Amino acid sequence: MKTLLIIFHSMTDGARQMAEAAAFAARSQNDIVVRLMHASEAKAEDLLGADGYLFVTPENLAAISGVMKDFFDRNFYLVLDQLIGRPYATLICAGSDGHNAVKQIDRICLGWRLRKALESVIVCTQAQTPQAIMAKKNILEQDLVRCQEVGEALASGLTMGIF
Ligand SMILES: Cc1cc2nc3c(=O)[nH]c(=O)nc-3n(C[C@H](O)[C@H](O)[C@H](O)COP(=O)(O)O)c2cc1C
Repeated sequence: MKTLLIIFHSMTDGARQMAEAAAFAARSQNDIVVRLMHASEAKAEDLLGADGYLFVTPENLAAISGVMKDFFDRNFYLVLDQLIGRPYATLICAGSDGHNAVKQIDRICLGWRLRKALESVIVCTQAQTPQAIMAKKNILEQDLVRCQEVGEALASGLTMGIF
């Protein structure tokens, strides 16, 4: 049985909805354990015990969120050289950009020598004003479907031994 670990952080709920959508779709596949964990709770043993990873984070200040960065900072050296070749994918919840968060995660995962299994998905909420940025987000159905597709593809790729 393969294990897919989905690690997320979210401040205004967008990335959480994206992570839930991916987890729901991944769980629809057979022969896979799907673990959905908040970034603040995920530890080295969780990373070591998984076969593939989905990282889901907001882009804040042209970077991954502080809580997601803390997850990588806490665990980077504890699992270095022990995850080599395992697949990963990324979902980013952004206002209007998201590309720096993708780059940052790709660079960290290069250090871990993970394998990027799928193109990153960026969902832009188009919030422009401070009020809109701080408000709870409702991710559109069409964007949740894109997240579901990633969850399903990662899970089925893992169970079929493609990744
Ligand atoms: C402090 C802060 C900085 C932000 N910086 C960016 C940014 O650099 N690029 C971007 O596209 N969106 C930026 N945003 C918008 C968020 O990415 C957007 O609100 C998204 O919905 C956050 O995901 P969440 O709902 O999961 O918290 C920022 C939001 C906050 C609160």
